Amino acid sequence: MENKAVLAHFTNAGILDRIVSVTPITTGASGASVLSISTADDEFILKHIDKTSLTDPDMLDSFRREFHFYSKKDVLGLQVLPEIRYLENSQNTIAILMRKYETIPSDKWESDMTGRMVDLLTDVHACPADKLDELGIEFTPRSVPAEQIESAMAEWRSVLAEHNGVFDQMILCDIAYAFHDITAILNAPPHSLNHGDFHAANILLDEGRLLLCDWQNVSAGKGIGELSFFISRLHADGVNIDEEQAIRMYSRMMHEKTGMSLTVQQLKREKAAAAVSTSFLHWANYLHHAEADRVGKVYREMCDAYEQVMRGDYYKGG
Ligand SMILES: Nc1ncnc2c1ncn2[C@@H]1O[C@H](COP(=O)(O)OP(=O)(O)O)[C@@H](O)[C@H]1O
Ligand SMILES: [Mg+2]
Repeated sequence: MENKAVLAHFTNAGILDRIVSVTPITTGASGASVLSISTADDEFILKHIDKTSLTDPDMLDSFRREFHFYSKKDVLGLQVLPEIRYLENSQNTIAILMRKYETIPSDKWESDMTGRMVDLLTDVHACPADKLDELGIEFTPRSVPAEQIESAMAEWRSVLAEHNGVFDQMILCDIAYAFHDITAILNAPPHSLNHGDFHAANILLDEGRLLLCDWQNVSAGKGIGELSFFISRLHADGVNIDEEQAIRMYSRMMHEKTGMSLTVQQLKREKAAAAVSTSFLHWANYLHHAEADRVGKVYREMCDAYEQVMRGDYYKGG
């Protein structure tokens, strides 16, 4: 349904009364239309999609996932979700009507907010496993076929060969050889509830309390990935957060909230394993015909991460 039709539908159903203004926030890069609505007495955010106009079935799944997640809000008991005023999943429409909160533009993000951000994230990650079961959210172990590892190695070799003799290629064989062990680090428990798109624009402010919206990609996985993603997204916007300090806070808060002992060393190792895995499998594709500096930066980061994963092994064994 068009925005107009949706608004008429909501007004006729008595869900929205006396609309004063409607301002689009996003016009659906993700396929959803997000509207800010003021009525005579209140302010809302409406996120809705027209199922009939979606061409990508994965997209529809992600909206269903978000709808399902909010509809089980009470089961979860998570205190960091926006207040939901109305939910609909009908033949043609998925609609989520929420209370409107303040947002935090990334240039307003102060580094002293790190503790509150980690507190928010660990509230999500501390969600007990039985609740995840009830929501039907489970971790899918990753398995990378040998052919994919070989073709990734060939791709890296051809990228490095474009810079005759500048890069030592030996480590590629080591990474390929250790790839199963690297994947095993990521497949090993514990896994927690993951938001799936944890960045500053999805954080809302409720009188000083942080809340989290946009649950389309909710899943189960390694928590540390969400923390690094958050930090690298802000970094791209020119805001620097001390990652070492954030990881220490994360480790401490997870322990306080769950009793689980995720050491800083283990978290860093998981982060490094994810970095090697992603860079090795996906990055070479984007580096053909790139300057040696750029190739070198990505390659060096991958090699450093690999060394860190292996060092972890050494400590574990020794
Ligand atoms: N309840 C809300 N209150 C205030 N702003 C919101 C609310 N829900 C969403 N927003 C704003 O709208 C933006 C887009 O909504 P989101 O659910 O993230 O959809 P998208 O899939 O387009 O990212 C969010 O990044 C946030 O800035
Ligand atoms: Mg979003």
